[in-house]
Amino acid sequence: MKIDSPAMPYNFSDLEPALSRDTLVFHFLRHQRVCFDRMLAIVRGTELEALPLEELIRVTERNPAQHTLYRYAAEVFNHSLYWNSMRPRGGGAAPGAAGELVRARYGSHERFAREFKDAAAAHFGSGWAWLVWRAGTLEIVTTSNAGTPLVRGDQPLLALDLWEHAYYLDHQNRRSAYVSAFLEELVNWEFANSRLAELPASAEARVARPRVAGESTRSVMLRP
Ligand SMILES: [Fe+2]
Repeated sequence: MKIDSPAMPYNFSDLEPALSRDTLVFHFLRHQRVCFDRMLAIVRGTELEALPLEELIRVTERNPAQHTLYRYAAEVFNHSLYWNSMRPRGGGAAPGAAGELVRARYGSHERFAREFKDAAAAHFGSGWAWLVWRAGTLEIVTTSNAGTPLVRGDQPLLALDLWEHAYYLDHQNRRSAYVSAFLEELVNWEFANSRLAELPASAEARVARPRVAGESTRSVMLRP
């Protein structure tokens, strides 16, 4: 098996008070670990066992008969991105390359934050909000259920879990309070910068498209 067991990049209590220890313990052990174990049970002993996680996701998404496995694999990937999209004492405006790209695309951190919150609030039901690198610029997208932008050719830079299990213990049904806590206290822009640095040279060299006055950010909902 080429896929490592999921791991948290910090202690379960390190994101308090923005996200409680209980939330992270339940989320990690009863959601991501369950998806990982079920994924392993399906691929064990098959040729799929040799694939890296991202390739397993792309291969199974193309075959409707393998969509149960696709959903488990995508949830393993999505949650690992999500853990790394947060850090203790995170939040605020992006530094470095991500900050330059945010200003080029959205004009300011405040406008980016408003559009990210709006996209997360408008997403119906369970799913994910993402900041992705697409065709030389940043985009805010959401996906439903286990959907991942990886299969659409986007490079995810930040992930935010919008399933209620991600925030109900701390914020009950107030998704907007959870999204605000993510942006103001948790978001890990250093991780987004590390993802940008890993882009292929051909993608990295592209110039971010400047925002045209009056243009609104597209918020795209992808199918699961
Ligand atoms: Fe989750």
